[in-house]
Amino acid sequence: MDAGLETVVAAETVLSDVDGQAGRLIIRGHLLDDLVQKTRFEGVLSLLWQGFFETDLTPAEFGARLGAARVAAFERVQAAPATNPIETLRIGFCLSPDGDGLDEAIALIATSAVATGVSARRALNLPIVPPNPRNSHAADILAMITGRSPSEDETEALDAYLVTVSDHGLNASTFAARVVASTRAGLSSAAIAGLSALKGPLHGGAPGPVLDMLDAIGSPDNASAWIGAALARGERLMGFGHRVYRVRDPRADALKGALSVLPYAKGRLNYASVIEGIALSELAQRYPTRALETNVEFYTALLLEALDIPRESFTCIFACGRIAGWMAHAKEQLATNRLVRPMSIYRGPAADLAA
Ligand code: ACO
Repeated sequence: MDAGLETVVAAETVLSDVDGQAGRLIIRGHLLDDLVQKTRFEGVLSLLWQGFFETDLTPAEFGARLGAARVAAFERVQAAPATNPIETLRIGFCLSPDGDGLDEAIALIATSAVATGVSARRALNLPIVPPNPRNSHAADILAMITGRSPSEDETEALDAYLVTVSDHGLNASTFAARVVASTRAGLSSAAIAGLSALKGPLHGGAPGPVLDMLDAIGSPDNASAWIGAALARGERLMGFGHRVYRVRDPRADALKGALSVLPYAKGRLNYASVIEGIALSELAQRYPTRALETNVEFYTALLLEALDIPRESFTCIFACGRIAGWMAHAKEQLATNRLVRPMSIYRGPAADLAA
């Protein structure tokens, strides 16, 4: 038995390769850093989805289709009951047309952006901002959340984030999406499964609590005591550790780079770096034989904070990027599908077979 399935290979994929020893992420033949430098979100969709749908689209074609799809998604999401960001997104996926085709996949991508914008504005009691189909996808996400036109640097930074998190091997949410796809339940069900796995604090729910932790520590002088006490209570430090990486998560540095172009308070960044260093040394002391390094969520938190995105919406923004991978993996699963159905060992009471 392998409870965490860490030694189980459950899929062959052409989508991404996570090398946990080298700290390297390859997305469809491109090193992460190269891809972040040269590709926007529309480009990563074009790359990841190539060969999986009835038609291959260029990045510009994706831009136009996504713009129209955001407008259509807005009608559906606006009519949905007001609730928290994750539930709004889950409802949005439920209301999105179901099926396995390109139109349905694009509608789901658009829904992730629009539901994130609508729920963020509702949570702040601010007027909802409709999508603008002429904006790039990243620029429109920012405009719908903040209510202002983002600068080119801000749009580039969000694009860098969306590209960075677009795919990452068989992580928990992608695996959940593939399991659901394997039952032929359709792409919107796969997206709901992916989101439901993503929201947990051990996966995509970590970045909001990273900021909560930085706020609670308050000053570098308190850091060792605060972190030591949290570890003594058996708590996990959000933004550290990874199932696959035994060295620093390469996505952390990609995001740190994207953050450097934003007019973000230097003091905040310096403070976060100091806390990061103290956390790493406390973790090393407590787990000397286990390499626990900074993961993607630590710098996600700082980047999204610098973009004026409310922390309650962080996981939804993660979903806006990762859904690119969920859709590609669902289609890859269907292409050579075998229903995912592992075995379990029964440890319950024995039945009276003689009765
Ligand atoms: N803080 C404190 N202790 C930790 C942390 C952490 N961040 N990560 C692992 N540990 C501890 C474990 O509790 C375990 O201790 P134990 O032997 O006393 O039980 C030991 O280190 C070894 O744990 P691993 O086998 O490395 O952990 P696992 O692979 O099961 O978990 C995970 C990986 C879930 C990411 C974990 O490191 C964690 O909870 N991190 C904090 C949450 C987080 O940042 N999640 C985002 C991950 S990135 C992503 O999903 C996009």
